Amino acid sequence: MKILTIIGARPQFIKHFPFEKACEGKLELQTIHTGQHYDANMSEIFFKQLGMKKPDFILNTGSGNHGAQTASMMIEIEQIVLSQKPDGIVVYGDTNSTLAGALVASKLHVPLFHIEAGLRSFNKKMPEEVNRILTDHVSDMLFIPSEAAEANLSNEGITKGVYVIGDIMKDLVKQVKEKGLIRSSPCDDPYYYVTLHRPYNTDDTSRLKYILEELNLLRFKVIMALHPRTKNLMKKFELKQESYNNISFIDPQSYFDNLTYLSFSEGLITDSGGMQKEAYWLNKKCVTIRTETEWIETVTLGGNSLLFEDLSSMQDSIEKPIEAWDFNLYGDGFAAEHIVDRIVAYFA
Ligand code: UD1
Repeated sequence: MKILTIIGARPQFIKHFPFEKACEGKLELQTIHTGQHYDANMSEIFFKQLGMKKPDFILNTGSGNHGAQTASMMIEIEQIVLSQKPDGIVVYGDTNSTLAGALVASKLHVPLFHIEAGLRSFNKKMPEEVNRILTDHVSDMLFIPSEAAEANLSNEGITKGVYVIGDIMKDLVKQVKEKGLIRSSPCDDPYYYVTLHRPYNTDDTSRLKYILEELNLLRFKVIMALHPRTKNLMKKFELKQESYNNISFIDPQSYFDNLTYLSFSEGLITDSGGMQKEAYWLNKKCVTIRTETEWIETVTLGGNSLLFEDLSSMQDSIEKPIEAWDFNLYGDGFAAEHIVDRIVAYFA
């Protein structure tokens, strides 16, 4: 059976790696890279570092308004699906690349398999929330990380083809932990690690300024890996990096370097989805600068705190001790194998 996967944004390159490995000898795989993320350190570096195959098709989508970006991906994905005739299409997560692939699959009646399905933030102002709801509703198989995701889908009437298989990002973290791949600290002093890129935190001058000012007040130094969105907007709003003497700004990091910064930190402050889980699995406290999270279990288990309007309690939240970490959260670390077995069974 020939499976076409669609990837395009940084977290999808990471999710694709365990899936590509698990497909070996079981499913023929072709990959489309939509070009949504195009900077070398947002894209190419992951293929190189993880030793992934080069995508079979690389589109030239780039940045743009969401409608134009998604539509231009769809036009090209449709042509490829028509010419390659895959038996099934795999999409990951909740980006515009996910939605573009899902819509093409459903219009052409190609079975659609959604990895990391069923999550909800219940905030439809986030493009990701709309992308994941629409994708879930046209998917034939939905691979989900938790019982909470199962309940979300059931509340929307989706009960068929739903499989709780754990989280595919855990597959990699598990291997990193077991093989001891993270060895030495990148910094001699204690520090907090920060990533920030969501539009509601970055696209408004006073909001972005407020967050940077609060980070600048923390007890330990802050190392902030700057997403291109945030970097561009800081420049546009004339928020100079030198004005924040407690913050060291660094480029976006490769997969292993990112986990290294996280592992040796005193805690993570982020608005990323994936990194909330990675922090939990690496036993690092996390403060999420959002009003809600799709990864609610990290909050109920005490590893993650949500802060948004008022960030003055950031220091207390990140220092608040947690009783115990549960590495069983989100599956057994073999999600990719479970997914491939299910897809093979689907066609049997
Ligand atoms: C996207 C996903 C988000 C995911 C994030 C991970 C959507 C709607 N959002 O957000 O779910 O968490 O990726 O990073 O799909 N840019 C560059 N170089 C790049 C990529 C982006 O300079 O390689 C800049 C562009 O100015 C662009 C902006 O970053 O306008 C935003 O990129 P975009 O892909 O639209 O969304 P992200 O914010 O990265």
